Amino acid sequence: MFSVDGSSIETVAEDGSPLPHAAPPDQVLEMNKYRQSYSLPRIEGIRVGHVQRVSLMPEKTHEMKTLSLKPLLFEIPGFLSEEECRVVVQLAQLKGLTESQTTASSGGEQQEPGQPLLVLTTDEVFSLLDLDQDGLLQKQEIVSHSRSQDGTWLSPDNLRQILTGLEAQQAGALTLEDFRLVFDIFKHPAKQRSSTLQGHFQRRSKHTRMYQGPGSHHVLHSLRNRVTRLARLPSPLVEFSEPLQVIRYEQGGFSNAHHDSSPAHSETTCAHTRLAGNTSTLTEIKCRYLTVMVYLNSVVEGGETTFPVADNRTYEQEALVQDGTDLTDTRATCERGNLRVKPTAGTALLWYNHLSDGRGWMGEVDEYSLHGGCPVMLGEKWVANSWVNVDPDHQRQARYQRLVSNEQTAKSGREESYHPLSHSELHQDL
Ligand code: OGA
Ligand code: FE2
Repeated sequence: MFSVDGSSIETVAEDGSPLPHAAPPDQVLEMNKYRQSYSLPRIEGIRVGHVQRVSLMPEKTHEMKTLSLKPLLFEIPGFLSEEECRVVVQLAQLKGLTESQTTASSGGEQQEPGQPLLVLTTDEVFSLLDLDQDGLLQKQEIVSHSRSQDGTWLSPDNLRQILTGLEAQQAGALTLEDFRLVFDIFKHPAKQRSSTLQGHFQRRSKHTRMYQGPGSHHVLHSLRNRVTRLARLPSPLVEFSEPLQVIRYEQGGFSNAHHDSSPAHSETTCAHTRLAGNTSTLTEIKCRYLTVMVYLNSVVEGGETTFPVADNRTYEQEALVQDGTDLTDTRATCERGNLRVKPTAGTALLWYNHLSDGRGWMGEVDEYSLHGGCPVMLGEKWVANSWVNVDPDHQRQARYQRLVSNEQTAKSGREESYHPLSHSELHQDL
């Protein structure tokens, strides 16, 4: 049903329409042209348990099984061979050794094992957010502190909750009293005076980033091609995305449930396209259309990936934290999640972090894509994350792609082997 041959996927979308990167700069975007030129392919899930054959590489097909529809989630066994997994782990170790010296003082976005997790009282959070210390939280203060692409402590859900609370206030600012009301939803009833902040960054693991472009190890390069084919995306979209992230969890390592992508507000801009627009005052967020996560080893015990609300009938933020149970706290509630995937070397998961906007482009963050890593009980766990970045603003995405591809063309004219824009400049590590 879908066999993608490498040559066609790079230039033509499934329906034969030109792809975003091919659009001329002065294109007039009438409605149907817009639809044709800016459509993001999305795999059909059909139903849970449905298996489809996919062609990711020459002379081999893979099976892709639908694990859930909300989020749209697939499992692909044997996406990498065991040998390829070993290579990625070894490359990461090599890179990791050099990196740990240079990043030792760079702010510690990742918690070291044994370090306590961030626990702040609501009043402390208020005071931290209140930059000018006037006792009121303005929208700008909240947003500028929420930077969810790095060591942030405000998850998109926290942020949304607070902004919604703020919008309900006529004064356009929150007092400490107001803030307590909107923020306390995230508290455990048992812990009235302290709040464990939810979100991306309650994790215990180590990580590194791996460049995958020309000149990189063939396994990394091939991994990226397989992601392109699997997701049936135009290859520039994948090429101009952030580099592969490799994560190592030691025994006891985990990551709390989070969304890989962030909701857009008027004050935010996607980190990956910031070069394409004059957006310097806006808060950068990660805009990740989909995640392909590959298990690089089989974990002896524990370390499952949990999707606590997968295929729930409804999603309610408040229902996640109830009766002393916090479904985002993977160390406490992993076994209660709706769906758990056991790490098996070489298996990939693909899920969409965003819904469609109904017009063929990327829409809102899919709340159901909430996921986390259960604690590793025995042994260690290695995974690789390949994120495909898309800007919800299709014009900005198109501008960005034109910019980086021009850059590449210019560079490849000057040098025999070139590197695309340095990704260390483009992206901060998670
Ligand atoms: C992540 C993540 C889950 C896992 O790194 O963003 O969600 O199972 N990991 O390791
Ligand atoms: Fe994640």
